[in-house]
Amino acid sequence: MTNILVTGARGQLGRQLLRRAAEVGIAVRGVGSDELDVTDRDAVDAQVERGSVVINCAAYTSVDAAESDEWSARGVNEFGPANLATACARMDARLIHVSTDYVFDGHSGSSYDVDAPTGPATAYGRTKLAGERAVHAALPSAHIVRTAWVYTGVGTDFVATMLRLERERDTVDVVNDQVGSPTYAGDLAGALLELATRSDVTAPMLHATNSGRASWFDLARAVFEEVGADPRRVRPCTSAQFVRPAPRPGFSVLSGRAWASAGLTPLRPWREALRTALDVVV
Ligand SMILES: NC(=O)c1ccc[n+]([C@@H]2O[C@H](COP(=O)([O-])OP(=O)(O)OC[C@H]3O[C@@H](n4cnc5c(N)ncnc54)[C@H](OP(=O)(O)O)[C@@H]3O)[C@@H](O)[C@H]2O)c1
Repeated sequence: MTNILVTGARGQLGRQLLRRAAEVGIAVRGVGSDELDVTDRDAVDAQVERGSVVINCAAYTSVDAAESDEWSARGVNEFGPANLATACARMDARLIHVSTDYVFDGHSGSSYDVDAPTGPATAYGRTKLAGERAVHAALPSAHIVRTAWVYTGVGTDFVATMLRLERERDTVDVVNDQVGSPTYAGDLAGALLELATRSDVTAPMLHATNSGRASWFDLARAVFEEVGADPRRVRPCTSAQFVRPAPRPGFSVLSGRAWASAGLTPLRPWREALRTALDVVV
């Protein structure tokens, strides 16, 4: 049986990977940042086993903080993946590296295909794109899987925040001019495990999100509807009313064409996935 290592295993996606793997009976070894710092080359070399599959969920994900600390973000998002790819190349291991819609400029009018031109508008996006390139250079057979708008509904992600605000406030203003594909981390974890167990798939660049598209406003209203609250309590506003250090992409929809062409199972519609996520947490 293939030996699977998950890095960044205490993060949102890493935790879901371990949970989903346990549910379907796939043996996975998860290491958090305290057990494996991906920026430490020797430590990475010591953890990657011959013939294994590594799923890299370790990342610097503070999009706003990266604007004033791009060097730290580069360490985790560029040099870390480079270390993993180099170790995987040496150990004949497969690498699945998770990346982001932020590598694109966010201005497209149609879904981004895997070969669409990149053009990150943020420090976080630049470091993630540099990570993709470093992975590809060290291990051309690695899979880079871009995703977007990931949530579980617990902690401080968008869905969890909407659940909290529904309890705390009469009305909530949510931006209606940013569009993406909300993606349940549990579904993404299942998709990555499918890829990890499919050694016949050779596509180096893939996109994996739940299907369909929504604005943050649409997603917030859907959360309210799912918990039986009046969705009209969510009111639309524009990004101009929520200025943040890093600009958010206006358009983040990723095409799942390459995923389906590789013979992998397409992820279900985002609204269906949201219902499942809320069944788990509410
Ligand atoms: N969340 C989204 O909406 C979204 C969207 C698109 C793409 N992605 C991508 O999806 C992947 C997983 O993201 P996530 O949502 O699970 O993020 P997350 O919850 O922030 O998890 C990232 C994990 O990486 C760990 N980490 C940080 N520095 C590390 C280092 N030097 N060595 C090892 N581990 C380190 C963190 O550990 P500590 O907490 O201990 O620092 C954390 O557990 C990332 O590649 C991200 O870019 C996420």
